[in-house]
Amino acid sequence: MAVLGIESSAHTFGVGIIENGKIIANRKRMYKIGKTGMIPVKVAEFHSKNARSVIESAIAEAGISIADIEAIGYTKGPGLGPCLRVGQLSAKTLAVSIGVPLFPVNHGLGHIEVTRQAFHMHDPIALYVSGGNSQILALDEQPFRHYKVYGETLDIGVGNMLDNFARAAGLNPAWGSTVAKVALGGSYIQMPYTVKGMDFAFAGILTHATKALSYTGVSDVAYSLQETSFAMLCEAVERAIMLTGKKELLTCGGVAQSARLKEMLSLMAMEHAVRFVAAPDELNADNGAMIALVAEKMLYSGARPEAPIINQRSRPDSAVVTW
Ligand code: FE2
Repeated sequence: MAVLGIESSAHTFGVGIIENGKIIANRKRMYKIGKTGMIPVKVAEFHSKNARSVIESAIAEAGISIADIEAIGYTKGPGLGPCLRVGQLSAKTLAVSIGVPLFPVNHGLGHIEVTRQAFHMHDPIALYVSGGNSQILALDEQPFRHYKVYGETLDIGVGNMLDNFARAAGLNPAWGSTVAKVALGGSYIQMPYTVKGMDFAFAGILTHATKALSYTGVSDVAYSLQETSFAMLCEAVERAIMLTGKKELLTCGGVAQSARLKEMLSLMAMEHAVRFVAAPDELNADNGAMIALVAEKMLYSGARPEAPIINQRSRPDSAVVTW
């Protein structure tokens, strides 16, 4: 028996299928982002057009029939409302037509759990970094078993910060990786550095870097922006490691594809004798398998399916971890 998951929180419409914790299909179609960024209704339209074919191709890849699906998960949030709604509607329609339970899943939880599972981690600290989200989480038993947020961005996500900077600098997508390329060979210039306990903020550094483009070369600005913002993340994560005494660290989400961020985190982890892993790129990119995986864990641990809603501001720390 298998569990199917649908992810549609942003530019990706992804469908994954899990069988006993194993990914047996993971298909997706991605909306191409132009220089204007993402216009939610346009992306939702793209998802609606592709939903059926991506679901069908995932089922074909898994080599199962629709009768083998015993539950369906979908991303309830956070994300863009119109896009989330397409995933929710597709999942709901399928679940009702084949008569199986439907599990709304928090997107960040999907990223964390698919990474934890891939590397057989027991009790890691997770640095979840993407466009819209930047959080440090770890399992906590009180007042119920959940991923407690130890630290997070006080304004924008580190990925959005890099994207906004890239747009201001006239760089082409994919923005994060373009900034990384431009940063090569740059020299350090002073940047604002904002860490408050285990929280951090990126709006100030974005404003500073954008202004600096008028009097400094783009390579120096990109380099300094990347070094400083990643150092902020590392400092906050280091504090969480010291506080919790946990011995495993994972990073996940779109920005976790950054080679420089992974290098900095792994050096810091080594100093504390902490095991460090980052998910492979195909799992850090948004995908349906991570949603299916959480839905399967919910199903097998007896979680009661919640109301099939979407919540653009869904938080990972509000989900009960029943597994
Ligand atoms: Fe994501």
